[in-house]
Amino acid sequence: MPRGLFITLEGLDGSGKTTQIKRLAAWLKERGNASQPKEPGAPGPSPLGTGDRQPVGIPGPDSGPSPLGTGDRQPAGIPGPDSGAWEKKNLILIRQPGGTATGDRIRSLLLDSRSAALAPMAEMALMFADRAQAISEVIQPALDDGKIVLCDRFTDSTEAYQGGGRQLGSAAVLELHRVLCSNLQPDLTLLLLPPLELALLRARRRNRRESAKTGQDENRFEQEQDAFYRRVREKYSEIAAREPARVVLIEGNLSIDEVHQRIIAAVAERLLASGRIGFS
Ligand code: TYD
Repeated sequence: MPRGLFITLEGLDGSGKTTQIKRLAAWLKERGNASQPKEPGAPGPSPLGTGDRQPVGIPGPDSGPSPLGTGDRQPAGIPGPDSGAWEKKNLILIRQPGGTATGDRIRSLLLDSRSAALAPMAEMALMFADRAQAISEVIQPALDDGKIVLCDRFTDSTEAYQGGGRQLGSAAVLELHRVLCSNLQPDLTLLLLPPLELALLRARRRNRRESAKTGQDENRFEQEQDAFYRRVREKYSEIAAREPARVVLIEGNLSIDEVHQRIIAAVAERLLASGRIGFS
């Protein structure tokens, strides 16, 4: 069985990652289900078409529980009324921190504003504890099973936020990744880097709204100063320049549709390169 395809989404808070990962999942799902054997004569979109005008089943940013959310104890598949056979067998969505029961507990420690006194090294160690668990419990088994794994943040986040933002440096992050994560590398990383001011404005507005709605406080990172986020952004740019074969940089003030089109173009190219035209 060939290894699955490991795709990560990265970017600043407020870069629109979560919206984009849902749209990408919907696009994959539509193409994947279209590639399955059909009733004779049933029409369907071409498996790899990028003319994604009307993707089916795309959950809006606020529609129902997120497959990446803490309430999701079932990493396998994206629940929904139009769940098809393809996605159950072929697609996994996961986010970091979180994505496993242990990871969700680590996530609340990490993101709660009451953890303000968390030492930077402890923060980095917790990010890796969460990741090691996710790899062991979800990511590696799914890849071994030939699935497509979409992961909302991975080690590039640790390099950008702890390595860059907290100034712990890249070397420590890469070494920990080698030891704790068996140096598992994504096949493709989609890096969203809108202008800093725009991303911060969106992230802070969103978090105030969500805290008011859910009573949950996940604002610890958003309370950081702009200088922190400038360092995060710089480190992300550095990673993209260092690893152009893996990282597709999507930069600038683009619309949601423009970003989506660039994402599916990059993903389609990888799917073709890996010989998964019909995703099966
Ligand atoms: P989250 O609410 O998931 O934000 P987003 O939707 O922007 O991904 O919070 C994740 C926060 O954790 C985000 O501010 C980035 C930070 N983070 C790190 O600092 N290091 C890491 O290794 C990871 C995975 C996330």
